[in-house]
Amino acid sequence: MAGFSSTTCLLLIFLLLRSSEARDILVGGKADAWAIPSSESQSLNKWAETNRFRTGDTLVWKYDSAKDSVLLVTKEDYVNCNTSSPIQQYKDGETKIVLDKSGPFYFISGTKDHCEKGQKLIVVVLSQRNRPSAVSPAPSPALAVEIDGPAVAPTPTSSASAFKAGLIVALMGVLAPLVIF
Ligand SMILES: *[C@@H]1O[C@H](CO)[C@@H](O)[C@H](O)[C@H]1NC(C)=O
Repeated sequence: MAGFSSTTCLLLIFLLLRSSEARDILVGGKADAWAIPSSESQSLNKWAETNRFRTGDTLVWKYDSAKDSVLLVTKEDYVNCNTSSPIQQYKDGETKIVLDKSGPFYFISGTKDHCEKGQKLIVVVLSQRNRPSAVSPAPSPALAVEIDGPAVAPTPTSSASAFKAGLIVALMGVLAPLVIF
């Protein structure tokens, strides 16, 4: 089996497939996270820094619709906590927002006072096309670096997908006998 266990193969296939899939991302990583942060280190922007967002991903917000809402606003309104003319307003308690373009998205609480106390979020979205490697965010930086190796080239996208295709073909070859017998 050339040093590859079938578990490793399946894991690699899973990672490769997962990397091209749009994801649902729960804001703050938990249900009650759309709230006034208890400290700077608990802020949603700290959370956002630890995540990678790509076009096609969906942000999911869970909150008490009687007490709060989500506003998509301009940078200026984000800075000033100006809730008077949002680009979009969501107040259903379970809001899903598709990140349909790359670049920054600015969100604030619809309750001005909450925003002023830090309940706000900037998400910077990377385009799928320009991403540097075949592997997405990731629980395992070590593995990502390993796989990134061959994909780093003057034309990251094409070499990454060529590499990905090649790897899938290679893995099929390894796995086929397992399935047949
Ligand atoms: C909030 O934004 C509106 C519309 O852009 C503007 O007219 C208003 O002056 C702003 N309010 C503050 C306090 O900046």
